[in-house]
Amino acid sequence: MDKFVIEGGKPLSGTVQVSGAKNASLPLLSASLLSGGIFKLYNTPRLNDVITMLKLLEHLGVEYSFSGSTVELNTAGITHTDAPYEWVKKMRASIYVLGPLLSRFGQAKVSLPGGCAWGPRPVDLHISGLKKMGAEISIENGYIIATCKRLHGTKINFDHSSVGATGNLMMAAALAQGTTILNNAAMEPEITNLARFLTLMGARINGIGTPILEIEGVDALQPAEIHTIPDRIEAGTLLIAAAMTRSTITISGCNDIHLYSVLAKLQDAGAKLNYTDDTITIDAQELELKTVDISTGPFPGFPTDMQAQWIALMTLAGGVSTITDTIYLDRFSHVPELNRLGANIIVHDNSATVRGVSKLTGAKVMSTDLRASASLVLAGLAAEGITEVLRVYHLDRGYEKLESKLASLGAGITRVSGSEY
Ligand code: UD1
Repeated sequence: MDKFVIEGGKPLSGTVQVSGAKNASLPLLSASLLSGGIFKLYNTPRLNDVITMLKLLEHLGVEYSFSGSTVELNTAGITHTDAPYEWVKKMRASIYVLGPLLSRFGQAKVSLPGGCAWGPRPVDLHISGLKKMGAEISIENGYIIATCKRLHGTKINFDHSSVGATGNLMMAAALAQGTTILNNAAMEPEITNLARFLTLMGARINGIGTPILEIEGVDALQPAEIHTIPDRIEAGTLLIAAAMTRSTITISGCNDIHLYSVLAKLQDAGAKLNYTDDTITIDAQELELKTVDISTGPFPGFPTDMQAQWIALMTLAGGVSTITDTIYLDRFSHVPELNRLGANIIVHDNSATVRGVSKLTGAKVMSTDLRASASLVLAGLAAEGITEVLRVYHLDRGYEKLESKLASLGAGITRVSGSEY
């Protein structure tokens, strides 16, 4: 378990490249199970959740190589159709193999994900959707046991938007008999990336990027190649790092349309932003940080995966702000840790009230989940003195070399390895 030691207060400058999106990469990797052959996924981020997914695919019989940011997969020799608890407990997104395995092989056994650090996180929408498509599903000994002859098309209405259920059912529907309609489908860019990949494999999907996806099943799909979209959450995290340290930096290889809600709020907070086709420059040197309330929502709303970082930013704004999470009602484990750095935040129900303070001061703090750890790193960059962020394995699940990227911009951040952290 490594820790980060951060010497706060150093301004950042320069340009940094955004990696491929974790939340796009995981379903793209799973989609390769829908056909046998050689796939290439470009711009894949080298981070722990991706490695976990590759190991799970290897268990299923997939051969892979990972060179630079290109993953090559050979899915011709699948030998297993199960996702054991050992993988799913490490990463809930392992559930993404359920739809493709069931649809292509007529059977899948996937460990039921448990709760997580910020609440129950059920998978009922995945299961009920597959049942509607004709699957027989039972829960036995902690596993989802699913079988079918061939899935059939149907109309599925999601009571609320789910990224994972949309992705899983879209993959399953691609090989089903007949047409599946997903109403109130997630519109996240990562889902659009997946839909385009499936289309390149021969799937017939209408309504890509809209809340109504119409998928006409085909008898077989072919291997394909795709470029993973840039990680909008990493990009947003880096922009907030610049805002909190009153710096000017450029992030490259990003897509501002995917980040629109975050960029608009950053401008409301007083940051100056400039764009080119694939770069965003933030000029925060003279920033007088204003309070900006946010409420998270499905895309194109403000992402829940940026909520913790936004709270970190608001700790230094002049006034009181309210941050509400409508997706994950309990996702506030970063708050007590930010308060240890001198922040003044109170959580009530699914909202945090942040009273801005004039400065944060360094301390030892504990990472509790992926985005919570990012918020602690951001606070540490802005705090006076030394901050130690313990248990950064949470952060390593979803950021590729964040500390190296920040250090290349001039941040005082180093990784210290040791079992006691
Ligand atoms: C994905 C992202 C995660 C992000 C989340 C919301 C990946 C790998 N992870 O997670 O980083 O925070 O979207 O943008 O892409 N729900 C149900 N039943 C279900 C499924 C979901 O009630 O069967 C609820 C969840 O508890 C949550 C909401 O729906 O309140 C949205 O969850 P969902 O979009 O499914 O999140 P994930 O796909 O797990």
